[in-house]
Amino acid sequence: MKIHDTIAGLRAARSSAGRIALVPTMGNLHDGHIALMRQAREHADTVIATIFVNRLQFRPGEDFDKYPRTFAADCERLTAAGVDHLFAPSETEMYPRPQGYHVMPPPEQDDALEGAVRPGHFRGVATVVMKLFQIAQPQVALFGKKDYQQLMVIRNMVQDLNLPIDIVGGETIRAADGLALSSRNGYLTPQERKEAPKLFHVLTKVVEKLQQKNREFPVLERLAVEELNSCGWMTDYVAVRKKSDLQLPAAHDSGLVVLAAAKLGSTRLIDNLEV
Ligand code: PAJ
Repeated sequence: MKIHDTIAGLRAARSSAGRIALVPTMGNLHDGHIALMRQAREHADTVIATIFVNRLQFRPGEDFDKYPRTFAADCERLTAAGVDHLFAPSETEMYPRPQGYHVMPPPEQDDALEGAVRPGHFRGVATVVMKLFQIAQPQVALFGKKDYQQLMVIRNMVQDLNLPIDIVGGETIRAADGLALSSRNGYLTPQERKEAPKLFHVLTKVVEKLQQKNREFPVLERLAVEELNSCGWMTDYVAVRKKSDLQLPAAHDSGLVVLAAAKLGSTRLIDNLEV
């Protein structure tokens, strides 16, 4: 695997690369990331991974400074997964001056769910992903369903701005006990790690009720929040939404997804399940 820390270096490498698949990450790679790398290989001649902890998508007081940076181990994992190129720029390479132009997701994405709790987050994500798309110029890019709203924001950005890139969503990879793999799981104490799969179990229960044609969405959401909070979680939301646009569903709608975000101690976890 060739490692590039400059835009010019990656551009030079990509010119003879054929069909390119891009997999953006912030590093501290786990099996969820690696599954995306392997899936990328099925779509392209050349797989480019990126590692960049993007300050623009963190709010003041969030975990930008303590976000785990494990570059050497990440490189080993990417090499083993058969990734061809890694783009791992410095902050000054990506942001040589304060970013002036941004990609603004529409308010119905920016203000809802994750956007409501983390104002400006999706603006930061969309802006860096747009920059990475311009730098690597892939034909296909892969994102995990673990970050369901992020995947939706990127899909809509590509559609609304006519970017010639296919967006592929990868299934969420979980630990044996159901906990969705996440770089932030490393923040959990051993006791919190035992409790953490509860988020998946609560979501599973909501999905089961929806499959039994229970359509009392607000009640299902409230019961799920109460169950989490009674076990020591601080829940931001449990929300039943339409898969297509993450807007509120009507009773007859099918194609639903249940999304949740909750804090366990000081660690904020997100997860979702499609119905
Ligand atoms: P990061 O959290 O590192 O995730 C990189 C990619 O891996 C994202 O597409 C994410 O959805 C996917 N992913 C994470 N955990 C997963 C799991 N358990 N199963 C499957 N896929 C998983 O998401 C970001 O970085 C950033 O916001 C980024 C898109 C790189 C922009 O900075």
